[in-house]
Amino acid sequence: MSDIRQSEALQTDVHQSPRIIAIANQKGGVGKTTTAINLGTGLAAIGRRVLVVDLDPQGNASTGLGIDRTNRAVSSYDVLMGAATVAQAQVETSIPGLSIIPSTIDLTGAELELIDMPRRAYRLREALAQTGDDLDYVLIDSPPSLNLLTVNALVAAKSVVVPLQCEFFALEGLSMLMKTIERIRSGFNAELEIQGVVLTMYDKRNNLSDQVAQDVRDYLGDKVYRTIIPRNVRVSEAPSHGKPALLYDHKCAGSLAYMQLASEMLRRERLAEAA
Ligand SMILES: Nc1ncnc2c1ncn2[C@@H]1O[C@H](COP(=O)(O)OP(=O)(O)O)[C@@H](O)[C@H]1O
Ligand SMILES: [Mg+2]
Repeated sequence: MSDIRQSEALQTDVHQSPRIIAIANQKGGVGKTTTAINLGTGLAAIGRRVLVVDLDPQGNASTGLGIDRTNRAVSSYDVLMGAATVAQAQVETSIPGLSIIPSTIDLTGAELELIDMPRRAYRLREALAQTGDDLDYVLIDSPPSLNLLTVNALVAAKSVVVPLQCEFFALEGLSMLMKTIERIRSGFNAELEIQGVVLTMYDKRNNLSDQVAQDVRDYLGDKVYRTIIPRNVRVSEAPSHGKPALLYDHKCAGSLAYMQLASEMLRRERLAEAA
């Protein structure tokens, strides 16, 4: 009997743990939330079961996925505080296969509250370790800073997706993020790796966009996805309708790019596994 249990436990480890990805960049307005929503939707559209964790007090991922403020009785704050499990906080979205742990404004105070808590950097990691076999991916949308919430995201994650806006100062913030990732690796989470860097809000009419894209590729090589997300007004309109771009207008250039990003990510994961 104990043997059977043991082999079941092993199988659980091998097949059923979701891949946890933090979407991070301490700069605001670079496309983190947009990427969490639309990459999540893209992965769900390919048949993956995805949970988005909204770890930003602004709650834009929650709003953008149609979870209004009256429907956030249990939130990521409760999960961090140990007052709720992931299963209790998880809410289904209108996209089949995509759920979310919404955030509320309570999260603003979480940082201060966490400081005195035991295992303060591991709160999210330990909560997510309780998830069962019903998820393939967890995407954590992090706030625009390198605070304890972002640290919780990076400690919980196996990898980081970094959205970079195609603008002049894009690379400047990146070295700070790389240093933080290095510090998380040496102090808390040795496995943390860069999943990929995604260039966002690319404007083909702007020569600077091309130059920035080239500089980023020179600096980071093949960590940068081939897929580039264009600046697209439909993408920016979608959240006010409580929908991902892929549902609001599945044919717009932004939606197509996010679908392509989801398949590129899966393809790269398969290649990495085969290597
Ligand atoms: N590809 C895009 N095209 C047009 N607008 C975009 C695009 N990506 C993001 N935006 C808009 O830019 C703003 C910042 O994006 P957001 O994803 O919220 O960034 P972050 O989460 O990093 O702060 C939002 O208003 C969003 O709608
Ligand atoms: Mg955001």
